[in-house]
Formats: sequence, structure tokens, C-alpha cells
Amino acid sequence: MENDLSNYRKIYKKSELSIKEVPENPIELFQKWFFEVEEFGGDIEANAMTVSTLGIDGFPNNRIVLLKKYTWEGFIFYTNYNSQKGKAIKQNPNVCLSFFWHNIERQVIIKGKAEKIAENLSDGYFESRPNGSKLGAWASDQSDVVSSRQFLDDRLASFEKKYENKEIPRPAHWGGYIVKPVSIEFWQGRPNRMHDRIRYSLQENFDWKIERLAP
Ligand SMILES: Cc1cc2nc3c(=O)[nH]c(=O)nc-3n(C[C@H](O)[C@H](O)[C@H](O)COP(=O)(O)O)c2cc1C
Repeated sequence: MENDLSNYRKIYKKSELSIKEVPENPIELFQKWFFEVEEFGGDIEANAMTVSTLGIDGFPNNRIVLLKKYTWEGFIFYTNYNSQKGKAIKQNPNVCLSFFWHNIERQVIIKGKAEKIAENLSDGYFESRPNGSKLGAWASDQSDVVSSRQFLDDRLASFEKKYENKEIPRPAHWGGYIVKPVSIEFWQGRPNRMHDRIRYSLQENFDWKIERLAP
């Protein structure tokens, strides 16, 4: 079987990125791009990003998670600390995040170090989640092998019963990571595959070095 995809060809022409116009701090540019992606619209989950970790088996591992907050310090997502990604981060906190915003032909690639956020911040976010999601965090030992769907449904039912008419606390194994960036690349698709790529790299004095990369 084969499926030749060589005719998949798109001309990228929606925007440009000029090194003369970029701000000194990449978080500012991230914010500008994020707002533009939202404004541009279309069927897109703008905060969905790929998180890559170095797996304990030596392979890179990717998965999509939702970015829940960004600040001058970094990028925050929530997950199960005992999951495959949690174990990988414990062993090696170097991660890579990437976004593909196809509506406006942009990619952002962030390299950084992941660390757990303060417990009270995880509590605050957990509290804001719908009850169903809270119970899901209790019911799922994320990334473990399970015997069946029935097993999961039964686990959920047992936690529904346990917390019926009660406040649902945050499980200690569930919370946020902040990824503190050391480099951020902004990629804007351009015609003829001559895309714009601008990379920010964090220097020892905490200034950001800004360079253009060949596409
Ligand atoms: C659109 C989308 C959003 C997701 N958001 C999250 C998330 O915010 N947190 C999370 O732990 N998993 C999220 N997942 C599930 C992950 O992709 C992944 O299956 C899970 O975290 C287990 O990954 P691991 O076994 O590599 O640790 C999301 C998946 C998709 C497709």
C-alpha cells in the first residue's frame, strides 16, 4: 500500500516577520501572536501545544497538552505528575513545547526547563475545573496500562460515590508545570518556502539574543 502525498502543497502568504519590528522579549511577541491567532479565528484550539520530553527509554516522547497560562516567567500546563511525561520530567526537566497555528501559518518552538508550580497555584486551578474533570483526575492513573474501559468507568463511579455532595480535593499527584524558556523560535510561513524564522536565546545576563535563521 502507498499513498503519495507529493501533491499536498500550500503557499504560505498570510503574514511576515521582520527582525526590525520584533520586541526585545519573546514573551511579548508570543502574546502578540497568540492574540492574532485568536482574532484570525477558524477551527483552532490556539492553546493546544505539543510537549516533548526525553523519555526514560531514551526516545523523545510527544503529546498534546493545553497551555493554561503564560507569564513573563514561562508557560504553564497541568497534568498527572505520575504520568509518563511526569516521570520523564523528573529525570530530565529539559522539554520542548511547540505550537502550529495553521490558520495564520505560524509555528512557535520553545525549549526550556519544566518545574512543578507552587501547590497553592495548582489548588487554585484545580478548584476552577468542572466536577467531572476533578473526578477524572482521581480516577485515571494517567499512562498506566488498564484492563478495560469498564475498569475506568468503574473507577470513576467509585470516586463519584466517594465525593457525592462533598468538596473534591486536588490529588497530590496532579498539578501544574511551568516551562521556563531558554530559547523561543517564531516561524512565519512565506511563499517559495522562504519562511521567516526568528530565534530568541537567553544569555547569561538574562538578555535575549535575537537571530534570523535560514528557512
Ligand atoms: C487537544 C488535547 C488536549 C490535551 N490536554 C491535556 C492536558 O492539558 N493535560 C494532560 O495531561 N493531557 C492532555 N491531553 C492528553 C495527552 O495528549 C496525553 O495523552 C496524556 O497527557 C498522557 O501523556 P503521557 O503518557 O505521555 O504522560 C490532551 C490531548 C489532546 C489531544
